[in-house]
Amino acid sequence: MLSTIFLGTALLASSLHAFPVENLADCPFPNGTDKAIHSYMCSDNEQFSITDIQTLDKNGKPFYPIDPRQEFILNLTTYNHGPQIDDNHVNVKINQYKAGWSGDCSWTSIPTFGLLNGIDGCQFAHNCPLTSGPLFLILPLDLSQFSAIINMLAAYKPYELEIRMFNYNAGNTAHEEIACVMAQVELS
Ligand SMILES: *[C@@H]1O[C@H](CO)[C@@H](O)[C@H](O)[C@H]1NC(C)=O
Ligand SMILES: *[C@@H]1O[C@H](CO)[C@@H](O)[C@H](O)[C@H]1NC(C)=O
Repeated sequence: MLSTIFLGTALLASSLHAFPVENLADCPFPNGTDKAIHSYMCSDNEQFSITDIQTLDKNGKPFYPIDPRQEFILNLTTYNHGPQIDDNHVNVKINQYKAGWSGDCSWTSIPTFGLLNGIDGCQFAHNCPLTSGPLFLILPLDLSQFSAIINMLAAYKPYELEIRMFNYNAGNTAHEEIACVMAQVELS
């Protein structure tokens, strides 16, 4: 009898050991990201404001969660409060929502080794020029050049992309930030 309990306890202990802590305490998807992309501006009063983002597959059908290994389309409803932008650079950081040692869920950064810095926005997202006033942007995205990073990401987990855009118009030397968007998504 006692040895059965001992064996049971030992088995339980070893099976618990086999699972990483993360799997025992999966974090709930924040901000409804299990259903749709959630985005917000991470800096106020910048040149661009973004009021809606929808994710579509390459045929224009609703696409969620996002499979970053496939081409997809962002449908952005935005407003340019300043002059036209003919050239822009984009820096992206990636965070994963997960439990720390204490069990609390928080955003933890994923190392991207600078690979997602200084992306030429015009070339990559074919989004130029960005004219003044209301803008409805259909941005086809192909992330295949970032497969080294994408391959590190686990599927069906919440991630957040911090996307910062800078003015690289000809003659501009300040390269000021013109938009900061936080996009929270489930990746498949
Ligand atoms: C949810 O979104 C709001 C902005 O809409 C943001 O302030 C908040 O930090 C987000 N929650 C998490 C857990 O990221
Ligand atoms: C893009 O989003 C706007 C605003 O939400 C919507 O009216 C429009 O139909 C969308 N376009 C596509 C191709 O889904």
